[in-house]
Amino acid sequence: MHYNGPIIRPQTDAYSLFVEVTVGCTHNSCTFCNFYDGYPFRVAPLEQIEEDLQEAKRQNPNVKRIWASGGNPYALSTERLAEVGKLFQKYFPGALVSMYARVDDLCRKSVEEMKYLKSLGISDLVVGFECADDEVLEHVNKGYTVADILEGCKRLEEAGVTYRMIYLGGMGGKGHGEISAKRTVEVLNQLHPYYMYLNMVTVVPGTKLYEERARGEFVEAEERERLTEFITLLSGMKNEIRIFAAPNTTNFSFDIDLQKDKENVVGQMIEIRDSLTDEDEARLRAYRNAKTSV
Ligand SMILES: C[S@@+](CC[C@H](N)C(=O)[O-])C[C@H]1O[C@@H](n2cnc3c(N)ncnc32)[C@H](O)[C@@H]1O
Ligand code: SF4
Repeated sequence: MHYNGPIIRPQTDAYSLFVEVTVGCTHNSCTFCNFYDGYPFRVAPLEQIEEDLQEAKRQNPNVKRIWASGGNPYALSTERLAEVGKLFQKYFPGALVSMYARVDDLCRKSVEEMKYLKSLGISDLVVGFECADDEVLEHVNKGYTVADILEGCKRLEEAGVTYRMIYLGGMGGKGHGEISAKRTVEVLNQLHPYYMYLNMVTVVPGTKLYEERARGEFVEAEERERLTEFITLLSGMKNEIRIFAAPNTTNFSFDIDLQKDKENVVGQMIEIRDSLTDEDEARLRAYRNAKTSV
């Protein structure tokens, strides 16, 4: 198999077949992200993809899920993605193909194009929308607006393409968590993702956000505020959705049916938040500051 650079994928896709479709990310300038530093965006040759699929087929002819690797392969032209989809179908007919997509990638495809790609198995996207707060999106240079989030996701829904979203808590910094969550709730309640990952931002060395923090221009939210942000978010969401909290960035771990388990999980978060002492805050801050990667 050909792998260049890191294979980033959601924890829930750990057992998929990873096939490199792109390397790096077309945007590569969100101020908090260093995933693809040193790996400029490029497109994997179709011959390489086919070779990898042949090798994978020899090892396991019954692959049911494929993770099309890269920071946002959905940025590729519809024609190119269709070629990739056809190759996946040739070797693993019926396999579910998932991949990352940026919000602006969605806005560049028509509903008809999305439907066409879906017919070739490209039918499950993971969108790192992060939050639906224009102030924050602009500050971290995400490269799209809340209006784009609504537009892109509604197109997916019209095309019948299922999608998951990634929420990144703490991005607004100290004093901004609750308002970000409230703004996001207003948007999410108009959309129908089937899954959402809850992450909290880690300020990683080498990023612009790290430099901003060093200059005192970005002040991180305390743990209590980060929890309040999640409590506000989950409490306000009316979506029928599963929520996955990743233990590597959130300090807790769950995978819940939101409407069924909301009261329980939100209650636990409130309990944890209200029991955190100033010493706990200092300890958790030190732990976060010592992290050099997500
Ligand atoms: C490969 S990206 C998602 C797909 C696509 N590139 C996009 O941005 O929509 C994976 C996710 O990792 C998370 N991530 C990146 N840098 C992070 C950081 N410093 N701390 C926590 N999460 C981070 C973000 O939530 C991001 O959406
Ligand atoms: S968060 Fe996504 S879009 Fe932003 S730089 Fe990282 S991989 Fe690229």
